[in-house]
Amino acid sequence: MAAERLSVYDWQREAATVLEEGPLGYLEGGAGDERGLRETMAAFARIRFLPRMLAGIAEPDLATTVIGTRISLPVIVAPVGHQRLFHPDGEVAVAKAAAAAGTVMCVSTMANTSVEEIAIEAPAADLWYQIYPRTDRGHRRELLQRAEDSGCTAIVLTVDVQSLGRRERDLRNGFRLAPTMPMPNLHRDGEHPGTLADIASALEPALSWDDLDELRSWTPLPLLVKGILDPRDAVLAADHGCAGVIVSNHGGRQLEGTVAPIDALPRIAEAVGDRLELYLDSGVRRGVDVLAALALGARAVLLGRPAMYGLAVDGEAGVAAVLDLLRTELRNSMHLAGVASAADVPGEIIWR
Ligand code: FNR
Repeated sequence: MAAERLSVYDWQREAATVLEEGPLGYLEGGAGDERGLRETMAAFARIRFLPRMLAGIAEPDLATTVIGTRISLPVIVAPVGHQRLFHPDGEVAVAKAAAAAGTVMCVSTMANTSVEEIAIEAPAADLWYQIYPRTDRGHRRELLQRAEDSGCTAIVLTVDVQSLGRRERDLRNGFRLAPTMPMPNLHRDGEHPGTLADIASALEPALSWDDLDELRSWTPLPLLVKGILDPRDAVLAADHGCAGVIVSNHGGRQLEGTVAPIDALPRIAEAVGDRLELYLDSGVRRGVDVLAALALGARAVLLGRPAMYGLAVDGEAGVAAVLDLLRTELRNSMHLAGVASAADVPGEIIWR
């Protein structure tokens, strides 16, 4: 009998038993000695709640809206590349599970499945599209058009991959992507670089606000910027007409030793006010982590590795089970904290 899966950590342990060393290292790894990754998680563990009692709430409401789309759980599936490394059903399984959970999946430029195929195979899915701009500007424009034609409702521009973070697990494992792992969003026909560093070398190393303005001028879709930690950059994103900012350190995979995103969030929330929507990712493992992020100013969180643990262990059903687990935990913690609605979590529930 399979061990009982009571927490994301149970799924993580099980995923480690089914994945081979290369994909496992790629999934779990952080940059350098992984101190930034550890700090990202530790910051959540430092949070203390100050719950309200006698709030008269029978059933907390977990629904909210993200860039105008109603979701029933404030947990979005983060853009994660190469999902067929974790399960043969890859991105399509994740999109179906996100749709069943009533939430959004953000499709990566590094996906092994084209955005068109995901949209066709998972027609109920609400998709956002994450873009890594290549140096080739024609390719950028094509990607935006393909995302729009596939029915994606927002573009997420990831801005923290100027260079690839030095992930020592991948370097030690000599991790390469097999030619059987296509990247039909990133690549045109016939291209196939093997190592992660080869792939990253196709990306724009000098990305700037001018690039962002140009991308925005090419698409009517709302644009979110992912990978912001400094309030000044969040204010610039608002000045440049972005609809949202995703406060993130890429799950500790890029610059080593950054501030934990959950610690950076309150200052960003104070700096931008209502000018755009704020999201948070990196290190969310529990319902209370989601609640903390909402209390500190995020509308929703994005979930990276935990969704992939579910995918690795049990495909679509595994992703669905991990999302369901977070729903159960979040509902429980909202009820116990005296919070009625995920769309309106008071900051006072955090002890400062
Ligand atoms: C990522 N992330 C990522 N981000 C992005 O914008 N485009 C991408 O292609 C990828 N690919 C990717 C692969 C893998 C294996 C991981 C673990 C992460 C980062 C991702 O969107 C998100 O920021 C982090 O995963 C959030 O941290 P947690 O939830 O994994 O702790």
